Amino acid sequence: MSKFRIRGGKPLAGEITVSGNKNAALPIIAATVLTDEPCVLSNVPRILDVQSMLDILVDLGKEVKFEENTLTISGEVKHACPSQSLVSKLRASILYLGALLGKKREATISPPGGCVIGKRGIDVHADVFSTMSVELEFSTTSYRGVLREEQDSYVFLHEASVTATENALLLAATITRQTIIENAACEPHVGDLANFLVKMGASIEGIGSNRLIVRGVEKLHGVTHSIVPDNIEAGTFMIAALCTKGDITIKNIIRQHLISPTFYLNLMGAKVDFIDNSTVRVYYEEPLISPSRKLQVGLWPGFPTDLMSPMIVLATQASGNTLCHDWMFESRMFFCDKLVSMGAHITMCDPHRVIVNGISPLKAQHLSSPDLRAGIALVIAAMSAQGESIIDNAELIDRGYENIENRLASLGADIVRI
Ligand code: EPZ
Repeated sequence: MSKFRIRGGKPLAGEITVSGNKNAALPIIAATVLTDEPCVLSNVPRILDVQSMLDILVDLGKEVKFEENTLTISGEVKHACPSQSLVSKLRASILYLGALLGKKREATISPPGGCVIGKRGIDVHADVFSTMSVELEFSTTSYRGVLREEQDSYVFLHEASVTATENALLLAATITRQTIIENAACEPHVGDLANFLVKMGASIEGIGSNRLIVRGVEKLHGVTHSIVPDNIEAGTFMIAALCTKGDITIKNIIRQHLISPTFYLNLMGAKVDFIDNSTVRVYYEEPLISPSRKLQVGLWPGFPTDLMSPMIVLATQASGNTLCHDWMFESRMFFCDKLVSMGAHITMCDPHRVIVNGISPLKAQHLSSPDLRAGIALVIAAMSAQGESIIDNAELIDRGYENIENRLASLGADIVRI
């Protein structure tokens, strides 16, 4: 496992381009199972989670060519039970259940892996499939499903789960009846998957809303598609610029996908100038203040949970108290002790809430991160701290951020992989 060595105190400056959205690329890679025709995906981030999803695709029998950030996927799946060792590497592998049920009408996958940020059950997924006439045998070692019949379905998600919504879409796109998905997740990556399935030949109404009406087709076609820009990566860079008192311009963003983080950053006194709908300049001009209202995650377009960890770091650099509340995950806050060891003043109220009292100058530390988003948050903390920090298991961060040390170094950060 490699580490990052970071010498902090250098303001980020310059231009950076956002990569394709990790959480859009993963379900869309699974969706290519639904057709035997070639698919060409551009703006695909070169990150470990994408590689893990491609390894499963190859294990299923597809041919994959990955050049620069363009993926060409062809051939057809030969079986419907991907290898356990590959599936256990990430959460998104659960999406092969919906895709293989769509293509093969049966599938067996082992329990997925993923960040240790919470229990992350699969009950919502089980609800989706059983409502759509899939006979399920879920055990602690494997999830098996067989589609018994094709009929109109009304799928109510008791939780607006992103991957459960995506599993419902992947199966419904191949069922030539009407599937209504109620209380669907509306994140930009769910919309990007839906747009991809429409290009393949499915009909989907309500894209971007929490009520989707899908009419599938017998045969889905191969398509060419560019992955939507990653709003979480864009927000992460915005926060990094402010934590280091820098001034950066971020390109290839979608302004509409940054409304919520921008709302809070403006409240904190940050400067956020949208030069146009795909470019934003973020810069530090005066000491930041607490947003003076609860920083709470929400379902889209509320504040995204995957930006909570970096925002907690920013809150340590804002004067006043900030209540940070992530009701979605039980263990999102379990990296705050690392920030405290750097000099932050954070009170853990319960597993979902912390109160951050700033401004507290951070000092360098030797840290290891429990999960992907905590990892990038610790990188940001180290860049704003005085001194030299070491962050272990850099590969955890490589799961979600492409070439991160070189891209941050291009903005003036003193960061190397050792
Ligand atoms: C997806 O995970 C993402 N992963 C996660 O990103 C992201 O944090 C999460 O959605 C939420 O946006 C992928 O897309 C591959 P969920 P998923 O089912 O689908 C609770 C990252 O770092 N919840 O949407 O597994 C739910 O119980 C990863 O890129 C409610 O309580 O997540 C679960 O604990 C981490 N009520 C959590 O939230 C609701 O109405 C996330 O649920 C909705 C969700």
